[in-house]
Amino acid sequence: MAISVRRLAPTFAAEIEGIDLNHLSPPDLRTVKDAWLAHKVLVFHDQNLDEDGLVNFAQQLGEIEIHLRQSRTTGRREVMLVSNKTEDGKPIGRLGNQELNWHMDQIFMAEPTAGTILYAVEVTPEGGHTWFCDLGAAYDTLPADLRDQVDGHQAVHSASTADRRVGIQLSEAQRQRAPEVIHPLVRTHPLSGEKALYFSLNHTARIDGRSEEDSLPVFEQLREHATRQQHVYEHHWRVGDLVLWDNATTMHRRDPFPNHHARLMRRVGFNFPVDRRVPF
Ligand code: SIN
Repeated sequence: MAISVRRLAPTFAAEIEGIDLNHLSPPDLRTVKDAWLAHKVLVFHDQNLDEDGLVNFAQQLGEIEIHLRQSRTTGRREVMLVSNKTEDGKPIGRLGNQELNWHMDQIFMAEPTAGTILYAVEVTPEGGHTWFCDLGAAYDTLPADLRDQVDGHQAVHSASTADRRVGIQLSEAQRQRAPEVIHPLVRTHPLSGEKALYFSLNHTARIDGRSEEDSLPVFEQLREHATRQQHVYEHHWRVGDLVLWDNATTMHRRDPFPNHHARLMRRVGFNFPVDRRVPF
């Protein structure tokens, strides 16, 4: 079957057909990597990947990163379960059924995750849609007053900020692995060279040199601009969908869903080549 790539939103996101992610030929892999850089969010339907297959695919994109909050004791450690399901009264995964605010994965690490893969095993008929926004297009169209507040400025990020804002808890060991880090508010993508806004509502504590109170209204203005309809793609999941996104140029959020519907996603993150992770 011939490979086709179809744009899903005005400036980014594309659906790829004609690729079986269990059997990627070298030219297929090149197509996926190029499309990931060009479109930032890629959607593949009707994939059939077990945990080994998912890890195998991710390894071809970059070095796999174990999430700071990974706590799984069974299955492949590289795979985080994102789910509201329970077994013997205990959650089998993370993130439950609640709304997840706009964020970037692991921006609070010194070498943040480059790409995330989310694969749908069980989906909910109501809610649970995942939204993405294009922070490259948002930066390009930023009004001058906001541009002045980000160009040449840095921001402070930490996992503990998410703990405070979202009400989740890091263990002491996790806290020590992830002290506050500083990254530029405008990041140049290490592979494509594109400039994009670089912040995460859950994890970005403040603009460096300014108070949190003073910084939050700026983040809210940036969020409002970045998540206008023309910068957004909303994904409605089907079983077998795999979505691969770029964490250097997009943020994402999730709609809540009723807890009586089971939702199960497998998630794997990977990083840029070692010599491209820093500086930004
Ligand atoms: C995430 O934000 O990592 C999960 C998104 C989702 O559950 O759709």
